[in-house]
Amino acid sequence: GRAAGSPRAALLLDEERGRLFAGAQNHLLSLALDDISQRDRKIYWPAPVEWREECNWAGKDITCMNFVKILHPYNRTHLYACGTGAFHPVCAFVEAGQHAEEPIFKLDPRRTEDGKGKSPYDPRHAAASVLVGEELYSGVATDLMGRDFTIFRSLGRRPSIRTEQHDSRWLNEPKFVAVFWVPESEDPDDDKIYFFFRETAVERQQGLGKTSFARIGQICRNDVGGQRSLVNKWTTFLKARLVCAVPGPDGADTHFDELRDVFLLQTRDKRNPLVYAVFSTSSSVFQGSAVCVYTMADIRRAFLGPFAHKEGPNYQWVSYQGRVPYPRPGMCPSKTFGTFGSTKDFPDEVIQFARHHPLMYNPVLPHGQRPLFLQAAVPYTFTRIAVDRVTAADGHYDVLFIGTDVGTVLKVVSVPKESWHRMEPLLLEELQVFQDASPITSLQLSSKRQQLYAGSATALAQLPLHRCGAYGKACAECCLARDPYCAWDGTACTRYVPNTKRRFRRQDVRNGDPNVLCSEGEPGPEVGSPRAGATGGTAPCGVPPSRPPVPRGVPQVPTDERVVRTERGVLLRSVQRADAGLYLCHATEHGFTQPLLRLSLEVIGARQAAGKAPAGDPQLAAGPPGRKVWYRDFLQLVERPPLGAADRGCQRLWSRGRPPPPPRAPAGAPGRGQGAEPRKARRRRTHEGPRAERGPRSASPW
Ligand SMILES: *[C@@H]1O[C@H](CO)[C@@H](O)[C@H](O)[C@H]1NC(C)=O
Repeated sequence: GRAAGSPRAALLLDEERGRLFAGAQNHLLSLALDDISQRDRKIYWPAPVEWREECNWAGKDITCMNFVKILHPYNRTHLYACGTGAFHPVCAFVEAGQHAEEPIFKLDPRRTEDGKGKSPYDPRHAAASVLVGEELYSGVATDLMGRDFTIFRSLGRRPSIRTEQHDSRWLNEPKFVAVFWVPESEDPDDDKIYFFFRETAVERQQGLGKTSFARIGQICRNDVGGQRSLVNKWTTFLKARLVCAVPGPDGADTHFDELRDVFLLQTRDKRNPLVYAVFSTSSSVFQGSAVCVYTMADIRRAFLGPFAHKEGPNYQWVSYQGRVPYPRPGMCPSKTFGTFGSTKDFPDEVIQFARHHPLMYNPVLPHGQRPLFLQAAVPYTFTRIAVDRVTAADGHYDVLFIGTDVGTVLKVVSVPKESWHRMEPLLLEELQVFQDASPITSLQLSSKRQQLYAGSATALAQLPLHRCGAYGKACAECCLARDPYCAWDGTACTRYVPNTKRRFRRQDVRNGDPNVLCSEGEPGPEVGSPRAGATGGTAPCGVPPSRPPVPRGVPQVPTDERVVRTERGVLLRSVQRADAGLYLCHATEHGFTQPLLRLSLEVIGARQAAGKAPAGDPQLAAGPPGRKVWYRDFLQLVERPPLGAADRGCQRLWSRGRPPPPPRAPAGAPGRGQGAEPRKARRRRTHEGPRAERGPRSASPW
């Protein structure tokens, strides 16, 4: 995919200060979260002249700038920032004030420190880090050539510590994607740091070519290295494969191995966040992207499972069957699992075993054993993800915002199919965020402000998490949208706020059934008991009087040899005078029907029409179909209209009773060169077409 090399824009969302901090070329920015186009502050932070000259000498051209790649909250008053410093990584403390309205934003360029092992040298190289208790954990290349990769801890009072050098079993050309700190018990000594990356798979048999695998790596926060060997190296480092695959027949699974981004969704239990990850395929034959969800329980299980073992260079990787020394490698020295006070107290055999067995045999499988959401055969790749847990009338829903490499953001809600154990994705909206279709390289979400912030290589945009009004002016439309952020309040589709005892709040994310929720004359069921007061089968209440209710028994156009029913409507293979009249297109969803289009067909004389047909094929316009199936090409065109073709609102025409098609973006959906206006997903498109309440606000300071 095109996203393969897109660098991660350093964005730091700071709710307390009400700021969005961004790292850019030679600059640090501080923007107001409420409106990123207002009250911005800037720090100019170039690389010193001598570094730039050195860099130019080495022929590094455009990269001879300070690209700010790392940005973390440090303490109440300061941030910690690192940049490439024209191939001379550099870090600094940035004073940012304590409160929202404090206008402080400054960096003392004389008080900078070495950024080696924190920021990459090359801005195009992947790096990821997390700052925990004044210590920085980073996954990065520590050399100029970008070959010596390490998982590195620095910055605190303890000596720096890293992974074993030049050992492909530990790390093999990794591309670091994300790092998180997750507590494992009440005891902070059990805290772990998890690294997400992709790397060249060592366990792949030789001769099959390079294969990229997605990985999750773990280390203990209290690891201080070994005493006699693995000195200042991790003694608790383990890694496992992250699998995101669609089961196929005969075990021929389709694998999504190119890990792109990870979002940790916090739950009430700090020890058990949900891991949302986006992947793309590395195959040149099959192209697609997927979202897989992992639980901490499954991740921990893989690290407690068998170790992968290789007897020698000519052996295969197998599950290690021998005795595992105590304490089991990967366990943190703590009171929970033993009496070891420090990793320096670990017996030598533990250290030796850890050194030779960093890889687990079992992979981590996604929740439900398959992707939560995937798209194939679309002209784009997923690049980033942010997730919001939303409280709706009938439960909690996870809403996914997925960035793509063509500057769009997909909004997807995961709803239970039959039970809460089987989730099904529903594409709610597809927004063109960047007009120039540049890849989304960063996504940050503020639940508090209900805003999404998207970054590309050259711009930043801010979008509301919901645009309830865009779903239409009727109860039924609001209800069919199944957007957990939105509910019908009696007069409009507006933001649903839980725990407000307002009547007429109607929402049914799970079923999206307007016949139940939008019944005429009924006071309407209270939110929270969507089934109460259901009358069923009555005319939908949400349709305003000016628009007559849809007759439910509208006669369908009879089909025969001459009239063909297609996915997208009806095709009259030859037109007769009797065909003239008014045609109505209806959309039927969850038993609710609404008109989308009215077409008036006039039939003009056959002779006149024939005159307009291309020469040599008079059959095109008139006469019964001959042996030549002339309409095939036309059908293809109808079923697969070119990019930018008109509305497809009629696709469910005359298909009453059929379940709605699975959510998918229409082919060629994120049209390049579309306006910057957020677009409603075509799936939800109504007769009124898309209407943006407010376009994304953007700032392009670099
Ligand atoms: C935060 O860290 C900076 C850099 O070490 C230091 O100068 C500052 O005093 C610290 N602030 C607080 C509130 O501890």
